[in-house]
Amino acid sequence: MSQKKLSAPGSLCGKVHNQDCIALMESIPERSINMIFADPPFNLNKKYNSYKDNLAFDDYMRWTERWLRECARVLTDDGSLFLYNIPKLLAHTTPILNSLLEFRHWIAWNSNGKPLGKTLQPAHYGILFYTRTNKSKFFDVRAGHPRCPKCNAFLKDYGGKEHLRHPVGPQVSDVWNDIHRSRHNNRRIAGHPCQLPVHLLERLILMSTDVDDIVLDPFCGGGSAAIAAKQMGRRYIGADIDPEYASIANERFSQSSEVKDMHGSYVSVHLGKIASIRDEDCGEDSLRKSA
Ligand SMILES: C[S@@+](CC[C@H](N)C(=O)[O-])C[C@H]1O[C@@H](n2cnc3c(N)ncnc32)[C@H](O)[C@@H]1O
Repeated sequence: MSQKKLSAPGSLCGKVHNQDCIALMESIPERSINMIFADPPFNLNKKYNSYKDNLAFDDYMRWTERWLRECARVLTDDGSLFLYNIPKLLAHTTPILNSLLEFRHWIAWNSNGKPLGKTLQPAHYGILFYTRTNKSKFFDVRAGHPRCPKCNAFLKDYGGKEHLRHPVGPQVSDVWNDIHRSRHNNRRIAGHPCQLPVHLLERLILMSTDVDDIVLDPFCGGGSAAIAAKQMGRRYIGADIDPEYASIANERFSQSSEVKDMHGSYVSVHLGKIASIRDEDCGEDSLRKSA
C-alpha cells in the first residue's frame, strides 16, 4: 500500500484549499487539528457550482462516514468537532460519531423557519458537539443581554433583582436564539447560496480553542469560519471543492483582521454589540460598555 505524503498542518494554514476535503485531510497528520467545524451539503438538491447535492441517501451517509473518520483522525486529544446540519441527517449521523468520538452537546440554533404545512415548523438547525476525550478544551462564553430592537430595553425581567444581572449578559446554554441567519442581502456576500453568520462560528471558536490553535473547515463555502478564526486570532485551514467559492473565501479571509476589546481580549461583535465573549474576559470595567 502506498504511503500518503503528510504535510505539516502549519504549512496548510491561512488558506482555503480548492480541494476535496477528504484528500486534504488525508494529507494532515493524525491528532494535529484543535477544532473542526463542518457544514456539509444537506443533500437537499441545493444549487452549488460544482457539487451535485442529490446523492442517494445511502451514498450520502457512506460519504459522511468517510469524511467524519478523517475528521476524527486529525483531531487532537483535547480537540472538538462541531457538525452543523438538519435534525434528520444529524439523527442518522450520531451513531457514526458515537463510534468515533465523545458526545458533548446537541446545540439547537433557532433559525426562525417558516411553517411548511403537513409537518412541524422547522425552527432549528442542530450543531453536534463532540470531542476526542473528556479532557477537551472548554471555556464558558457569555452573550449580550437580549434587548428590545426598538427601544434597547432589557427583555428579561429580573423581578426586582436587577443587581444580579451580569454586566455583559447570560452564559450561553445549548439553545441559541440570539443569532439570526444571514437572510438579508446586505449582510450576505455575493456568490455563495448558504452562508452562516460569522458570529455563530466565533462563539464556537471562543468556546473550544485557544489563541493560535488550528481550526479546520472541510466545507468552507463563502468562508464564514475562515473569517471567524482570523478575527478570533486562531489559525485556519479550509477546503472547498469549487474554485469560485474557494476564491471568494480566500479574498474575504485576506481582508479580515483580528477583533479585540480595549483590554486585548478577543471578542465577537455583531452590529456594534458583543455577541460572544469568554466569561474569563468579562472583567468588571471592560464590560460596562456593552451592558
Ligand atoms: C453548506 S456549504 C458551506 C457553507 C459555509 N459554511 C458558509 O458559511 O459559507 C457546503 C460547501 O461544501 C462544498 N463541498 C461539497 N463537497 C465537497 C468536498 N468533497 N470537499 C470540499 N468541499 C465540498 C460545496 O462546494 C459548498 O460550498
